[in-house]
Amino acid sequence: MAKISVIGAGMTGSTTAHWLAEREIADVVLVDIVDGMPQGKALDLTEAMPIIGSDAKITGTSDYADTADSDIVVITAGLPRKPGMSREDLLVKNATIVGSVAEETIKYSPNATYIVLTNPLDTMTYMTMKKTGLPANKVIGQAGVLDSARMSAFIAMETGVSTQNINCYVLGGHGDSMVPLTRHSNIAGVPLEKYLDADKLAAIVQRTRKGGGEIVGLLKTGSAFYAPSLAIVQMAEAILSDRNLILPCAAYLNGEYGQEGIFFGAPVMLGKNGIEKIIEYELNDEEKAALQKSADAVHKSVEELKKLVEL
Ligand code: NAI
Ligand code: 2OP
Repeated sequence: MAKISVIGAGMTGSTTAHWLAEREIADVVLVDIVDGMPQGKALDLTEAMPIIGSDAKITGTSDYADTADSDIVVITAGLPRKPGMSREDLLVKNATIVGSVAEETIKYSPNATYIVLTNPLDTMTYMTMKKTGLPANKVIGQAGVLDSARMSAFIAMETGVSTQNINCYVLGGHGDSMVPLTRHSNIAGVPLEKYLDADKLAAIVQRTRKGGGEIVGLLKTGSAFYAPSLAIVQMAEAILSDRNLILPCAAYLNGEYGQEGIFFGAPVMLGKNGIEKIIEYELNDEEKAALQKSADAVHKSVEELKKLVEL
């Protein structure tokens, strides 16, 4: 079986391990700095496997040597938001954590593909590429799968149509200026405006943009974890199965969508080499302007990172 190391065994990390092991996608190594916690969660999950009939092996550890030769490294280590905080407020603390995680993991798994979750997402993914020295196709940020799933869920709630018929695409940075592409999204090939009037659609776009904050406001002690971890699992499965699945992910752009030198949400094809291809949609002026506004926020965050850390 393939091997996936998940760094950070908190809410998103342990839920990722749960989905991966339940679906027998890979053996999982859970790593955390909290003494005993990754070991305890791994043992609990191991004891669940006979009930589900899965032979996935789950290990908990604080020793990076146990992550050796991972096919995929998932980084979830770092602080989540508290109510009222933006993702950018996490930059200083999480940069230190993600920097050290990238440096430790790459020593043991130089051929792995990395999937980053820690916020601020686009900037932490950039940092991971710089710290590991990996090529851009091997480092991917998770944001778009989650943001697009949120939009699909809100449309399903409003229309009553099966989630399987709803195709939504949210591009741009993983912040409140993310860009839900209503013109490219559809319900079984039919444009959204045939199902939803303009006000309802605008409300769904706004709710999608603020989707992470809505859950932080309800939970009060942390942020979303079920949908984010399942998004990671979909990406990891596509890579391990060489599926050539097109998903919106944070990718390092080199001129695509008019952006250079940042990780930014775009549709990418995921296969055995990580990002096999970046797909460019045809956008109108309004969509281009919205993406530029989102990119400006990501550029600003990367500039802040460069003031903190030498990369
Ligand atoms: P959490 O607090 O439940 O778990 C984080 C874990 O990281 C903790 O167990 C902590 O001990 C561990 N950790 C801290 N420093 C570490 C280090 N140096 N090495 C190893 N482990 C370390 O937080 P949660 O909910 O799992 O979120 C994790 C991160 O993911 C946050 O930054 C959050 O904002 C982000 N996030 C991003 C999403 C996205 O769509 N990109 C979605 C959900 C969460
Ligand atoms: C979210 O969107 C916290 O970024 C995370 O739920």
